[in-house]
Amino acid sequence: MRGLRAGVAAVLAGVLAGCGGEEGPQAAADYGEALFQDARLSSSEYNKFSCATCHVTTAEVPAGRIDSGHTLYNVAARPSWWGGDETQLLDAVNFCYVNFMRGVTKLGAEEPRSRALYEYLSRISPDAQAPALPFTVVKDIQDVPRGDATRGEAVYRAACQNCHGATHTGEGRLTDLASVLPEVTRDYDRLFPGIPHAQVVIEKVRHGPFFGVGGNMPLYSTEALSDADLGALLMYLGL
Ligand code: HEC
Ligand code: HEC
Repeated sequence: MRGLRAGVAAVLAGVLAGCGGEEGPQAAADYGEALFQDARLSSSEYNKFSCATCHVTTAEVPAGRIDSGHTLYNVAARPSWWGGDETQLLDAVNFCYVNFMRGVTKLGAEEPRSRALYEYLSRISPDAQAPALPFTVVKDIQDVPRGDATRGEAVYRAACQNCHGATHTGEGRLTDLASVLPEVTRDYDRLFPGIPHAQVVIEKVRHGPFFGVGGNMPLYSTEALSDADLGALLMYLGL
């Protein structure tokens, strides 16, 4: 009995001495990594996006991925986010959470989930001097020169396919809410009379849900998707 008590006391002393303190942030970061990859972070039954749907976390972006969001490698070290519009990391995260993931209420600063995400984002941010990243939004929509359809197919696979599924069928799409491309444009003469179909698609890609467009698809800055790649994509889609 005495031996057991002494053992328990020794374990407790170890915890108080800092073992637990070391494990705390580590366990929180692991939890944060799980949250990062889980669409259920948002309580909306309509949401199918996790943070990992739109952001890689590696220093180099893997071949075959074109994401609307920057890599989050070093994100916690950046001095500002969203092209300088956000100066608090949690606000930068909540912008995505509310606008893209249909999170109804923002993640609160004191919530364990926020702390866990913070610990995870800190763990993937080794360079304290990491600069803010550029984020250039195309405000006035203009047509872009069409490019090479083979390149366009690669762009579609890297940028659109995960959410929209295969062209013409939507097979494998992440959510039924993502329209079948390019067939959805057949309705555009009725919905947007007199406006070229490509123009509507360019506006969606460049503005996402913003500038009065609506929805929850992310927007693509020119850093995320160049006009050249957008022009190749339109050629591939026959627009
Ligand atoms: C549907 C796509 C999408 C989802 C889902 C998403 N984001 Fe984003 N995120 C973006 C886009 C687009 C931007 C703006 C471009 C950029 O700055 O990376 C952005 C920007 C950010 C930024 C600012 C990066 C910077 O340096 O400017 C942070 C931080 C961020 N997201 C974190 C998250 C986290 C954490 C989650 C999950 C809770 C998440 N995002 C979910 C698309 C998304
Ligand atoms: C993160 C998931 C996601 C990605 C990536 C994505 N989309 Fe979407 N997209 C959606 C969802 C969901 C909708 C329907 C809701 C909305 O309108 O925002 C949509 C809607 C659209 C629409 C409007 C369809 C209509 O109803 O008129 C177009 C056009 C479109 N996407 C094109 C693209 C193209 C082109 C790409 C690749 C450059 C792309 N999307 C990438 C999720 C995505």
